[in-house]
Amino acid sequence: MTPTTRPSTAGMMPLVPLGSYPTPLHHLPRLSEHLGLEVLAKREDLSGLGLGGNKVRKLRVVLAAARAESATVVLTQGGVQSNHCAATAVAAPMLGMRAELFLHGDPPAVPTGNVLVDGMAGATPHFTGAATHAEVDALVEARAGELRAAGEVPFVIPLGASDPLGVAATVTGVEEVDARLPAGGDTRIVVAAGSLGTLAGLTLGTWVLDRDWSVEGFSVLWAAERARLVLDGLLDAARRRHFPGVAPRPNVELTDEQLGGGYGVPTEQARRAAALALRLEGLLLDGTYTAKAFAGLLEGVRSGRYDGVERIVFWHTGGLGGIFG
Ligand SMILES: Cc1ncc(COP(=O)(O)O)c(C=O)c1O
Repeated sequence: MTPTTRPSTAGMMPLVPLGSYPTPLHHLPRLSEHLGLEVLAKREDLSGLGLGGNKVRKLRVVLAAARAESATVVLTQGGVQSNHCAATAVAAPMLGMRAELFLHGDPPAVPTGNVLVDGMAGATPHFTGAATHAEVDALVEARAGELRAAGEVPFVIPLGASDPLGVAATVTGVEEVDARLPAGGDTRIVVAAGSLGTLAGLTLGTWVLDRDWSVEGFSVLWAAERARLVLDGLLDAARRRHFPGVAPRPNVELTDEQLGGGYGVPTEQARRAAALALRLEGLLLDGTYTAKAFAGLLEGVRSGRYDGVERIVFWHTGGLGGIFG
């Protein structure tokens, strides 16, 4: 492949040097032969900070903002086995901040996977039982108020660091792929979508670089209608705030066809997809995120949805902690 030189957006946002970038872009030769279509993997799972995966790319920008505000403690939230919370738990103390995590559920009898990582990193967990997302938001705000009153400087990171800053931070991932691919050719990015910042950032990246690629997200958290509303809101806010001169394009698809029984509920298709990825390419996929997106990719090939697409870039977002959760 001939690398091409293109303008960089990476310098536009202050960031802290966390993780190892650019992450690798790997050809998947056995899978490509198996599917009859060129497939590559963007190895965000190898981002090099704990088991942080795609979250590190967001956090290096979001935590730079926290530091700019002289934050002493970061507050964030997610599922009990949240990859984002574990990544925050690991990153914050490296930058001289504490982390408090609002985990949606009850404390596990035995700490495993990301809960183990949270504890090893010294984060303070708050298990929120059956509280709704809105109720957890209120708990976080209340705790931030308490901390402020005690003289601390709290910085709140939303679910999945999916706010305009986290979305804009993800644009650099598209830039890295673009620098490695030959110009032209119909490229499709396939990714798991939770809080939707990653999907929004990848889409925004194709707009910023003016690439005629398509982006496809498989929702693993919300039904399609709600997910679409969140996605459109994030895209609009991040574009206006960080890239106001960039024109939107209708090149993103979002489906819930791999959601199955809901967030974290395994599906048979995802289990089979993960086994195929491991046996053909040595890729470890988790049942909550990446295996569901990969199952969607396989179904897309089978159904002819990618006819005319020259290559697929599977965005391997990580999720390794969750496998052992
Ligand atoms: C492994 C993994 N993949 C994908 C995602 C989805 O990213 P986002 O929340 O930005 O949609 C997450 C985070 O929730 C994740 O942990």
